[in-house]
Amino acid sequence: MREKLEEIKSAASRLIEEADAPAALEELRVKFLGKKGELTSILKMMGKLSAEERPAMGQLANTVRAEIEKRIDEKSAELKAKEKEIRLRAETLDITAPGKPVAIGHKHPLSIVLDEVKEIFLGMGFQIADGPEVEYDYYNFEALNIPKGHPARDTQDTFYITDNILLRTQTSPVQVRVMEQQKPPIRVIAPGRVYRSDAVDATHSPIFHQIEGLVVDKGITMSDLKGNLLALAKRLYGEQTRIRLRPHHFPFTEPSCEIDVSCFRCGGKGCPMCKGEGWIEILGAGMVHPKVLQNGGIDPDVYSGYAFGIGLERLVMFRFNIDDMRLLYDNDMRFLEQF
Ligand code: PHE
Repeated sequence: MREKLEEIKSAASRLIEEADAPAALEELRVKFLGKKGELTSILKMMGKLSAEERPAMGQLANTVRAEIEKRIDEKSAELKAKEKEIRLRAETLDITAPGKPVAIGHKHPLSIVLDEVKEIFLGMGFQIADGPEVEYDYYNFEALNIPKGHPARDTQDTFYITDNILLRTQTSPVQVRVMEQQKPPIRVIAPGRVYRSDAVDATHSPIFHQIEGLVVDKGITMSDLKGNLLALAKRLYGEQTRIRLRPHHFPFTEPSCEIDVSCFRCGGKGCPMCKGEGWIEILGAGMVHPKVLQNGGIDPDVYSGYAFGIGLERLVMFRFNIDDMRLLYDNDMRFLEQF
């Protein structure tokens, strides 16, 4: 039995030494020390020994068991350390290697110019207002002095949700919404999307953007309108820029005008950009009609105001010399990456 124990001990030592993974060690633990293991089966034969032999054999068996356990623990620690080292080596970062470039997006040309316009008006003390794109007929037409059957409705045909609800054709409904909410002095711009039933071509889109402006206070006159919009034109197109007011008609302003800026390409002499005119139209404007003030709950005998509506797409196209509006909506990366 002594030989048998020595044999187990040396076999175990050798196998443990050769083990190359924690799983293999675990197998050895079962093979030698487990319930059905080799050492255990030897111990079961102890009963056959004489009373004198038994204590010595018992002690030897315990030493062998302790020895095997110790070896397994040592080897296990060794294997774990080795595994960790291999993992650390594999995870080494070469901090001198060049990084992977991260693709960073940038603003769409419409947003670039809109943000600029916002910045300019915020600097003049305006606030930014907002209104729904799905709008009531009342705000889009009725409250703006465009009753049912008015011919101005035909030029702004749109998409109706119900008889009373439509996709707004202009940002002007925000004027009335703001007046209902705020008391003068009012100084807001309201940029946003508008919809018209237009076929797509180089200068038309059924969805486009306007920037509405509204100023209401005591003693506001047409010269305030002109001064503010001249300031805008100079900021957008340079100090030398001039503006011109042309009489026009809008049902919700009286008097009304369209405002042109001197062509920023030729300075007014006439070139292909301005189609030989020397001037480029950028917005419609006027003094807020007394009826519209009234509809907004403001007394037209005490207050007056001006309003304007800028076509954002036009500003952007002139600004970046883009000749086809569709480019702004096509999401063609080759185009968009140029800004
Ligand atoms: N809403 C008008 C349009 O879409 C523009 C405008 C706004 C005119 C404000 C006057 C005052 O054509």
